[in-house]
Amino acid sequence: MASADQLKALVKSHIDRDDGQFYSVAMQVAAHEAKVGHGKLAEELRDLIDAAKARGPGSPANLVPLARPRGDLANLLHVSYPKSRLVDMVLDAQVEEQLERIMKEQRLNARLRDHGLSPRRKLLLVGPPGTGKTMTASVLAGELGIPLFLVRLDALITKFMGETAAKLRQVFDAIAEVRGVYFFDEFDAIGSQRGLANDVGEVRRILNSFLQMIEHDQSNSLIIAATNHPEILDYALFRRFDDVIEYHMPSPSQATGLVRSRMGNYAPRPFPAKAVSEKVAGLSYAELRRAVDEAIKDAVMHDEAKITVAALNRALSERRRLSEKLKHNDLAGKHGGSTGSR
Ligand SMILES: Nc1ncnc2c1ncn2[C@@H]1O[C@H](COP(=O)(O)OP(=O)(O)OP(=O)(O)O)[C@@H](O)[C@H]1O
Ligand SMILES: [Mg+2]
Repeated sequence: MASADQLKALVKSHIDRDDGQFYSVAMQVAAHEAKVGHGKLAEELRDLIDAAKARGPGSPANLVPLARPRGDLANLLHVSYPKSRLVDMVLDAQVEEQLERIMKEQRLNARLRDHGLSPRRKLLLVGPPGTGKTMTASVLAGELGIPLFLVRLDALITKFMGETAAKLRQVFDAIAEVRGVYFFDEFDAIGSQRGLANDVGEVRRILNSFLQMIEHDQSNSLIIAATNHPEILDYALFRRFDDVIEYHMPSPSQATGLVRSRMGNYAPRPFPAKAVSEKVAGLSYAELRRAVDEAIKDAVMHDEAKITVAALNRALSERRRLSEKLKHNDLAGKHGGSTGSR
């Protein structure tokens, strides 16, 4: 049997997520077992270790478990390693400047901290659907080379307020333990799930404890909250954040720019900029992207190297028709209480 010290070292290296140390202790255990005549067990242990190492230190299979949430946290956090880049986004000059600044401060984290300063890392993103809030969280993770953790509010918020508060605590412990971008999408839900809560006072307490946790957090992680409904948020909320970034629907020229870049080599030549700019009003970036993807699909299915102007127009009109229909339904849904409370 492994000695008490070896067992403790194994558990500790697991907790510290120190794979090197874990393998080294496991090999010692195998060697010990071989020495005391348990050859088969020793061999099985070595095979297990070799198989784990063979996945290679740089392979995603080995990297991901380093920051893979365990236990309860696995339900609360969804981890990914995005490759998104800032250049893939079409942004207002102001937003681009804010994001560049955040990345710069993050990269100079050590220098800033040496001077008793802390980089901007608690961000509130506000703006209509499909304007790039979620994409921004991916881009920041991708550009900084750190994992993106989506906080699953549906798993976080339960009808038991005490339980919700305890889960929130676990998430903030993870934020302090594993550096990453932690994204609370539609986080206003924390404060607006009135139907689920036992009383309004409890809801406020949860929102307040969320705010306090944000305020007291001293970690190196980025905490990003996003909402489509800034108007329902208390002013007290805004001042907890280092930066508030506002997203807007695309202007005709931004929309045309996105359509053009998304089409890539499938773009018709010459590019019908004027015709496109007349068709894009009212569509979000997300909707434009979907329209272009539909047009590309058509071209691929018809074995064509380029999207025709007619096909592009059709895809944009179709998307607008859908968008108007969905907006209408969405509003009807909201009036009916989309929080799942009825
Ligand atoms: N500013 C942008 N530049 C380029 N592409 C964008 C932009 N905004 C959105 N997109 C495209 O639309 C997709 C969906 O956008 P995203 O999920 O980031 O919107 P959102 O603001 O989070 O919307 P919601 O409020 O509905 O969550 C993105 O994956 C991307 O392909
Ligand atoms: Mg989003």
